[in-house]
Amino acid sequence: MRSILLIIGGGIAAYKSLELIRELKKRGIGVTAILTKAGEQFVTPLAVGALTGEKVYQDLFSLTDETEMGHIELSRAADLVVVAPATADLLAKMATGLANDLASTTLLATDKKVLVAPAMNVRMWHHAATQRNIRQLKYDEVTFVGPGEGEMACGEFGLGRLAEPLEIAAAIETLLAPGDLPLKGKHVLVTAGPTREPIDPVRYISNQSSGKQGYAIAEVAVKLGAQVTLVSGPVSLPIPPGAGMMPVQTAEEMLKAVEQSLPADIAIFTAAVADWRVASAAGEKIKKKGDGKPPTLSLTENPDILKTIAARKSGRPKVVVGFAAETENVIAHAQEKLAKKSCDLIVANDVSVEKGVFGGDANTVHLVSKSGVESWPKLSKAEVAMRLMQKLAGLL
Ligand code: CTP
Repeated sequence: MRSILLIIGGGIAAYKSLELIRELKKRGIGVTAILTKAGEQFVTPLAVGALTGEKVYQDLFSLTDETEMGHIELSRAADLVVVAPATADLLAKMATGLANDLASTTLLATDKKVLVAPAMNVRMWHHAATQRNIRQLKYDEVTFVGPGEGEMACGEFGLGRLAEPLEIAAAIETLLAPGDLPLKGKHVLVTAGPTREPIDPVRYISNQSSGKQGYAIAEVAVKLGAQVTLVSGPVSLPIPPGAGMMPVQTAEEMLKAVEQSLPADIAIFTAAVADWRVASAAGEKIKKKGDGKPPTLSLTENPDILKTIAARKSGRPKVVVGFAAETENVIAHAQEKLAKKSCDLIVANDVSVEKGVFGGDANTVHLVSKSGVESWPKLSKAEVAMRLMQKLAGLL
């Protein structure tokens, strides 16, 4: 039977770990749990043990635990180690290699893959120290699921909510998937959706992108075994189960999130990034002056995310893919973009209104690379995603 070692950290989100255990048991995944001292303040060992059907481990220096199963063995017996919720404190310990309690010692001793589902206050999440630890952990090949954005127990709003148990369970399934999946062990980065560039606190410049193609790609990449980071502008689509989500608004935020998510094996830029932003967005709502004259908006160019990443000297993803939305001379424009943005492949599509690509479920694409043009028939966005990801897996 596939099994995981679940480390439950302290935090109000710890109650969701109980739901996660139930979800995993339903899927036939065995769970052994370590409950940290802080975790114990939020869920009881009795509740955890009742759901796992196993002994709950709590203390590094417990003689009985050590005789039954030492911490080294505990860290290696399962197929995967999952930390949920992962507090800022646990992430810091992991990033620096501290081993001063059962959870941190086990994490240092394990030879298995580690998945973390962070949960903390939004300010703790954005703190430079936490972000530095996250970069280190990603570099150390720790996999992340979440955090999500939303209302927090402390009343604040933002990033830091524990990913939903279903999302964590899907990420676990992916990591436990057989080794023959074509993208197993690969990190795929996807940008999707529009960006939103503020004019003032209530108005913005944006575009029609639905995000469907990018989300379909992220979903397929998870299914093919990849660790997926989805950097997305505002769309109304559910997060593909198992994908790590980084919600952004503006092009500048998108670039920052993409850079934070590197290294990646494959990066696919499907986002419809606004080419321009208002040079200095107004801090207050712009009012009509009553003289009939509209305000003048002065625009400035946004960073080209695809071009910036493809041009990197170090840390360039092995395969960089751009999308080209065109309304005429589709292939010629795509060839120009391939060269101008120095990417490995451009997926070109005709977005003239009569084709109904924006917001629609189908897409007719041409794959343009240095080695030529490959035109695919009209396919669903899900099918485009599947064929594309299989092709990219082949390129790796
Ligand atoms: N792109 C990006 N950052 C930008 C603009 C575009 O990452 N600031 C990426 C898109 O995600 C897409 C590709 O570049 O993968 C092509 O985008 P497109 O808008 O078609 O090209 P532009 O460079 O904006 O050219 P134009 O608008 O002149 O057609």
